[in-house]
Amino acid sequence: MPAITPPHTPAEWAAYYRLRYEVLRQPWQQPEGSEQADDDHAPTTTHALLLAPEGYAAGVGRLHPSGPAQGQVRFMAVHPAWQGRGVGRQVLEYLETAARSQGLREVVLHAREQAVPFYQRLGYAVVAPSHTLFGTIPHLLMRRVL
Ligand SMILES: CC(C)(COP(=O)(O)OP(=O)(O)OC[C@H]1O[C@@H](n2cnc3c(N)ncnc32)[C@H](O)[C@@H]1OP(=O)(O)O)[C@@H](O)C(=O)NCCC(=O)NCCS
Repeated sequence: MPAITPPHTPAEWAAYYRLRYEVLRQPWQQPEGSEQADDDHAPTTTHALLLAPEGYAAGVGRLHPSGPAQGQVRFMAVHPAWQGRGVGRQVLEYLETAARSQGLREVVLHAREQAVPFYQRLGYAVVAPSHTLFGTIPHLLMRRVL
């Protein structure tokens, strides 16, 4: 399995955002650019990119500080050809390791309903129902103490 790193080069950033767009935005007819967040380039935001040998992104995710000793994971996405092969686990564990090294003691995230079993498998518990994205995707707030 290739190693996870933050995106560095313009090509790596392009691959990173392409996967976000293709998995998390395009299927709901969202415009290009909607996969980018204002704080993506904040110095406190940590990005995880796992590149496939062909150069496209196999898995991505990000972490930002969201409260006292708390981090939030957002934009977790695994390429369809790589789903179910441990990439999501590797990305999430990379972000949790980063959270620990930043002194954070818990991670929260808003999980799409269909991804809840994945996060439960990795130690997260449902806290409460959250928002509905694009009018159709229910989310649940989940939390894990590190
Ligand atoms: C959800 C997602 C990130 C998971 O990544 P993945 O690479 O497919 O998951 P992994 O292969 O790393 O799975 C890790 C563990 O979770 C389990 N798991 C993954 N998805 C699961 C599911 N839907 N139901 C039950 N278990 C699941 C795996 O079986 C594996 O368990 P194991 O360690 O016992 O083998 C990925 O499937 C994805 O991008 N889905 C579409 C976009 C999405 O929903 N993103 C999350 C937004 S909140």
